[in-house]
Amino acid sequence: MPAKIAGTGYYLPKQVLTNQEIAKWVDTSDDWIRQRVGIISRHIASENETNVFMAEQAAKKALAEAKLDPKDLDLIIVATSTPDSIMPSTACEVQHKLGVAGCPAFDVNAACSGFIYALSIVHQFFLAGTVKHVLIIGSERMSRVINWQDRSTCVLFGDGAGAVVLSASDQPGILGSYIHADGQHKELLHIPNHLPDQAFAGEKLEAKLTMQGNKVFRYAVTMLEQVVLEVLEKQGLDKSAIDWLVPHQANERIIAATAKNLGLSMDKVILTLPTQGNTSAASIPLALAYAIEQNKIKRGELLLLEAFGAGFVWGAALIRY
Ligand SMILES: CC(C)(COP(=O)(O)OP(=O)(O)OC[C@H]1O[C@@H](n2cnc3c(N)ncnc32)[C@H](O)[C@@H]1OP(=O)(O)O)[C@@H](O)C(=O)NCCC(=O)NCCS
Repeated sequence: MPAKIAGTGYYLPKQVLTNQEIAKWVDTSDDWIRQRVGIISRHIASENETNVFMAEQAAKKALAEAKLDPKDLDLIIVATSTPDSIMPSTACEVQHKLGVAGCPAFDVNAACSGFIYALSIVHQFFLAGTVKHVLIIGSERMSRVINWQDRSTCVLFGDGAGAVVLSASDQPGILGSYIHADGQHKELLHIPNHLPDQAFAGEKLEAKLTMQGNKVFRYAVTMLEQVVLEVLEKQGLDKSAIDWLVPHQANERIIAATAKNLGLSMDKVILTLPTQGNTSAASIPLALAYAIEQNKIKRGELLLLEAFGAGFVWGAALIRY
C-alpha cells in the first residue's frame, strides 16, 4: 500500500552556540567555519534535553499535525547513534513517554543516514500492507560525543530531533528509497572505545568522534552523486521533476555539489545547516519539518532526500509530499 507524509515536527534545544563562542577555546574563526562548512551557529542540548526528551517533543508535534493519537501507531522507529542508553532503545522509551504500548518500537543506527535507512525499512512495511500509521524520529545529542578540543570536528555538529508520521494512502507518497553500505572505511569516521570490556579493563571510557574530514568529503560527494541518479533512474523520473532537494546537512559545499549534479539552483535546496549544524540522523526530518512549517514545501511537490554518513552508509529517497 502507498504511504504519504501525514505530519512532521521538530525540536531544537534552547541553547545556541555561535562560531565566535567556539573560537574562544579552540584555534578557529567564524570566517573559516562559514566558508569551509557553511555553519554560523548550532543548538546544544542541556542536561534535561535528553535524546528521548527531544524525540518525544518532535513526535508529539508530528502526531498533532497528522491529527493522530499515539495509540493509532503501528510502528515506531528512532534513527540515532547517540542514544541516552545502549538499552532499552530510544524508541521503546519514546513509546512509553507517548503513553502507549504494544506496537513494535526499535532504533536504527545508520549514523547520518539513519533517517533514510528508517524510511526505507518503513517503506517495505507499507508495501507489505502490514501497517497503517508509522512514526519515524531522527534524534541526536551529538554534543555528548564531540571532543570539544578538536577544532576539526567540534565546529561541525549540533543537537536536535525531527519526526515524521507516515500513513497509508491511496496516492503514492514514498515513491522509492535506496540504501547502501561499505564498511571498509571505519577509521575515517567513527566513535571508538564504546565497548564495556574496555571500561572493565580499567581504561577511561572515551567515546568521542574522530574524522578525517577531507577524505570523508570526497567519498560523500561521489556516493551521493551516484545514489541521487539511481533513485531517479529507478523511478523513471528526470532531474527536472524534482521540486526540492532535502539533503543531510553536513557541509554546504557537499550539498552544492549534489545540487549542481541534479541541475538544481540553491533556492531549490532546503538548507538548515547555517543555524543547526550537522545533527546527524536528525538533520533530514528537521529540515523537512522546518521547510513545511515555513510553507516552502507544499502538498503535491516532489522531494529528493539524500544522506551519507559513518559506516560508510548512504541512501536516497523520492517522496511526493
Ligand atoms: C571537515 C571539513 C569541514 C574540513 O574542511 P576541509 O576543507 O576538508 O579542510 P581540511 O580537513 O583539508 O583542513 C584544511 C586546513 O584547515 C584546518 N582546520 C580544520 N578545522 C579547522 C577549523 N575549525 N578552523 C580553522 N582551521 C581548521 C586544518 O588543520 C587544515 O590546516 P593545514 O592545511 O594547516 O593542515 C570537510 O572536510 C567536511 O565537511 N568533510 C565531510 C564531513 C561529512 O560529510 N561527514 C559525513 C557525515 S557526518
